[in-house]
Amino acid sequence: MNNLASKPTIAAGGRLPPGPDRPYRAEDDLFAWINDNFRRYGDIYWASIFGGDVYVVSAPNYAERILRSNWQNYARAGQVVKRIALLLGNGLIASNGQLWKSQRQMIQPAFAKVAVASFQEMIAAANAELRDSWLAAARRQQRVNVTRDVSAMVLQVTLRAIFGRDYPSVAPHFAILAEDTARDIGFASAFRPLGKIVHEIVARRRSDSGAAGDILGRLLAARDRAHGQPMAAAQPVREVLTLVVAGHETTASLLNWMWYLLSRHPEVQRRLCAEFARLPWDEIPSLAMLANYTYTQQVIAETLRLYPPLWLMTRKAIKDDYLGEFLVPAGTEIYISPYLIQRSPALWDEPDEFNPDRFRPQNSAGRPELAMCPFGAGPRNCIGEAFARLEIQYHLMMIARELRLVSGEPEAGVSTTGMNLLSQHEFFMQPQLRAAPMAQAAQPAQKPNRPASV
Ligand code: HEM
Repeated sequence: MNNLASKPTIAAGGRLPPGPDRPYRAEDDLFAWINDNFRRYGDIYWASIFGGDVYVVSAPNYAERILRSNWQNYARAGQVVKRIALLLGNGLIASNGQLWKSQRQMIQPAFAKVAVASFQEMIAAANAELRDSWLAAARRQQRVNVTRDVSAMVLQVTLRAIFGRDYPSVAPHFAILAEDTARDIGFASAFRPLGKIVHEIVARRRSDSGAAGDILGRLLAARDRAHGQPMAAAQPVREVLTLVVAGHETTASLLNWMWYLLSRHPEVQRRLCAEFARLPWDEIPSLAMLANYTYTQQVIAETLRLYPPLWLMTRKAIKDDYLGEFLVPAGTEIYISPYLIQRSPALWDEPDEFNPDRFRPQNSAGRPELAMCPFGAGPRNCIGEAFARLEIQYHLMMIARELRLVSGEPEAGVSTTGMNLLSQHEFFMQPQLRAAPMAQAAQPAQKPNRPASV
């Protein structure tokens, strides 16, 4: 049997990138395989993956062309997208062309800054509840399951934002998302009936008068710009399921990794706390205030850099194109990995080290914009970015202000069997009441701190 991939070498019209002779095999861990070949072949290589010709691309200038300047030539495609389409139907993630365009226009206003701001109190309340339960655990000297707790909190926030007053009736049905991280056939069959639940709520809402201010209400009130029509009958159900899946596991994964990094770097927890002590604070931090918390935002950026929850974006070329000197024949699949870009030694010093100071403005000059792309880029970027950023910053500020999390966590492996970059095992940590912070620790070191290891 021939184990070698039928590797094209030269094509009429241009060079093709180098790449491994051996095709990806189903028993290989895709994440490890892609990483290994990146080390061997660099920031653009050809590979045979799932029987298709794939370019694995990890340089900002190529990402710029695919996601922004020539984005219309690259349809969203690939195995994960197919799985999402099977599970959720053609919602915003899985659709392309005219359907995507019209849906994106109709959904976008529900994620505008002003709409997101209306969720502020709800997000703060969910985090206050979590903080209080961790405070109680600190007093009892009990460890908490950080992975599960943040996942449940994010699920609650996502569902409340989407369903508003219908939250109590939908929440029990969606609990499976926080309880079961395997995204296998069993999960798919448990997930499918959720469509029926959402369908019933949509039908009820359609017969109600008056629009609700939650995301579902905004989706039902939206009208297509070209024809003035509402979404087709089953489309809101697909979109709602898509938003739950896209919004929950990503944000939960980020918070999980953030606590992992912080628990291994108490000095960063101290500096965060010192920033909280130095800056004004309200019961609920106002939106205008958030940007002043610069060190907090650097910690979030550094977590997004090291552990971008969506580690792979996939596309398919519609017509021939060029990436630099390389020809991209029509039909080529493209994998862009924020993980590889954001840990590329060509773009980052000591790329595997946790060092929030690298995001201080004076340390960021000259870095290409897409050296960071955890939320993608261009017209198909993450629609929920502002929502996710608000959620992440509120969580960090409200919890780290009062508690530090301690763990003897050894270096943790990643699991990428589903869509997202999850931790291989759940993180258990000991919350401790924070002593009064030392104000001087807020001052950044003169030289950027020696980065600490992840
Ligand atoms: C830390 C949290 C999040 C991260 C890292 C993240 C990351 C991403 C990335 C990288 C993409 C682009 C994928 C591609 O180009 O192939 C994307 C798209 C998307 N995200 Fe997020 N996301 C997050 C949170 C959210 C939230 C909270 C929502 C909604 C509640 C959401 C909804 C979506 C949707 C619907 C798309 C598809 C947009 C389109 O194709 O037009 N995401 N996300």
